[in-house]
Amino acid sequence: MPVQRTLSIIKPDAVAKNVIGDIIRRFEENGLKVIATNMTHLSAAEAGRFYAVHAARPFYADLCAFMSSGPILAMVLEGKNAVTLNRQLMGATNPKEADAGTIRADHADSIDANAVHGSDSEENAVIEINFFFSDLDLHSRG
Ligand code: TYD
Repeated sequence: MPVQRTLSIIKPDAVAKNVIGDIIRRFEENGLKVIATNMTHLSAAEAGRFYAVHAARPFYADLCAFMSSGPILAMVLEGKNAVTLNRQLMGATNPKEADAGTIRADHADSIDANAVHGSDSEENAVIEINFFFSDLDLHSRG
């Protein structure tokens, strides 16, 4: 299995619930290393740029409003199979469909306030990591 990097975001709802530590614990216990962090508060326009791929979807405006409603924690995770592993730990987009024990099953309230984001491919991970971080911010630890 290749060592990969992926972008994780702890969304405003989960930051507000004070479960940052619980979410990072799950990553670390499953072999993912946090190699960069950035707590930030996106503007609606910045959220719109991040989610530009969804611009034509009916939920886009609400998604941008939600993602800019409070601080988020953007992180780069590194480890074997990081993209898929992170998606498995997150659970399905809709928490009602998320497997028991996943982050979304435990912390998400709805399909729109769903606690975490994770890159869906290695290609998108590179684009999303570059949105929040420069190479100098990444502290790979092998
Ligand atoms: P998507 O990329 O499909 O899901 P995921 O976050 O699991 O990769 O959608 C991006 C976000 O858009 C999703 O996390 C929450 C929001 N969203 C809605 O609000 N309503 C919806 O019906 C969908 C599909 C997504």
